[in-house]
Amino acid sequence: GDYSGALRPQLHYSPPIDFMNDPNGMFLDANGTYHLYYQYNPLGIVAGNQHWGHATSQDLYHWVNQPIAIYPGAAGEGIFSGSAVIDVNNTSGFFPNQTNGVVAMYTLNTATEETQEIAYSLDGGYTFTKYAGNPVISIGSNEFRDPKVSWYAPTQSWVAVISYAQDFTIGFWTSPNLVNWTHASNFTHAGILGLQYECPNLVSMPMLANSSLADPLDPSNFASTGEMYILQVSINPGAPQGGSISQYFPGTFNGTVFTPVDTATRFTDFAKDNYAGQFFYNIPQSSPQISIAWASNWEYAQTVPTGPLEDFRSFMTLPRTNVLANTTRNPYTLLAYPLPPPTSLEITPSTPLLSSNNLTNNTLLASYTSTVPSGALSFSINITNIPQVNTTGTANFTFLSSVTGEYVRGGVFLAGGNGDTPLWLDRSGVRGFDNPFFTDKFSTDVWLNPDTSTVRLYGVLDRSVLEVFLNNGEKAGTMIFFAEGILDTVIIGTNDLNPGIGVSVEVVGLGSAW
Ligand code: FRU
Repeated sequence: GDYSGALRPQLHYSPPIDFMNDPNGMFLDANGTYHLYYQYNPLGIVAGNQHWGHATSQDLYHWVNQPIAIYPGAAGEGIFSGSAVIDVNNTSGFFPNQTNGVVAMYTLNTATEETQEIAYSLDGGYTFTKYAGNPVISIGSNEFRDPKVSWYAPTQSWVAVISYAQDFTIGFWTSPNLVNWTHASNFTHAGILGLQYECPNLVSMPMLANSSLADPLDPSNFASTGEMYILQVSINPGAPQGGSISQYFPGTFNGTVFTPVDTATRFTDFAKDNYAGQFFYNIPQSSPQISIAWASNWEYAQTVPTGPLEDFRSFMTLPRTNVLANTTRNPYTLLAYPLPPPTSLEITPSTPLLSSNNLTNNTLLASYTSTVPSGALSFSINITNIPQVNTTGTANFTFLSSVTGEYVRGGVFLAGGNGDTPLWLDRSGVRGFDNPFFTDKFSTDVWLNPDTSTVRLYGVLDRSVLEVFLNNGEKAGTMIFFAEGILDTVIIGTNDLNPGIGVSVEVVGLGSAW
């Protein structure tokens, strides 16, 4: 693969060539290597011929492409989405002499049925052998897919969540050995239904100890009592903004039944390009759980621009750390914040491209033109000392191409009127392509945090994708775009802020991880 093309993200995972969708089988091995598999068509730049592509990483930013891990067996078969676990105790019997055996569970898609199969790896996840007794679950349905397996220690049992896609149902199945599975319960008709449920994840999630939006990367903020789960469910098509979207339900799990805390719908991401996210297996339970999603939307994933150098479609989101926070006004919010890019990827880390500690009223921090070759950067806008009433003002950012004039932009309004903070993103300034579903504006809203009187915005711009995070990940937005020129010009400014509000800004150039 050539990773130098103008549309190719430099910090996000993308396949060497051809079409990719969902992340699959992600796990952290005992040596500290992260494994990412993904839905892969090695024969074209639209979906089809699903294989499991494979890549490994030590830091979730620098990836090494590995040979394809799982191949379909016969023409017309697809190895659809699924997950992988490490069978340390050899519950399966596949691994008599090792503790690093990996079992992948995926959906075999054929013209007539979707069944759940397993494959095992004796070499730590690089090559797989399909189990001779497949399928391990077959219910005679052709809309039954995407098993995500985890280990439930209290009952010494494996648990798989599997989607009965067009019944709007997530099935909970249990197994002592990954081979023999028993249906335990169903979770059904919750949240936004869309037309299909896909790619469920059941994850034990650390809870922040207090009600404020404390730093999710600081383990001392985790409650030591109580265990919460989330059940994440992706839907496609039929998302409120069109196409695909992911939602999550906080709740409790007793080994067989998931009980949500309430009936609310909560979205994983407020924009349109975050789908089929998966959480890594084997991240220590008391740590923030790490997720990666597919940064696209089925409404246009197969028609977005690609070029002669690129010859690929789709990339993943940044790796995100996730914890649950019981915020004052939003109970059980999943905070999602990017794992910070390694400092080795920062261009002259001690010298930010742009830094200001005191933007004041109506300040425009005009055109800084970046000469960072990758075109990638991170930025933060920290707003402090915000009054709780009669708040005014905005903070905005624009990333512009000095060559073509294309831009993406966004910002926050402090004057929501009810103590709220709307956040918006806009990709209308980039030449689109001929697809009416590639809508261009996204917004969301959070309450001002009365404990801190601050708003913090952090984002990463990377060639064809912008990801923004409000506060400590209370809201996350992923927006892809396809500009003909690299967005090299940074404009950050404020308007009409109440006197006394403080704004500091930092922009850091980022190198290429490829
Ligand atoms: C979600 C999905 C899954 C399926 C896979 C096929 O994007 O439709 O339900 O397993 O993609 O590639």
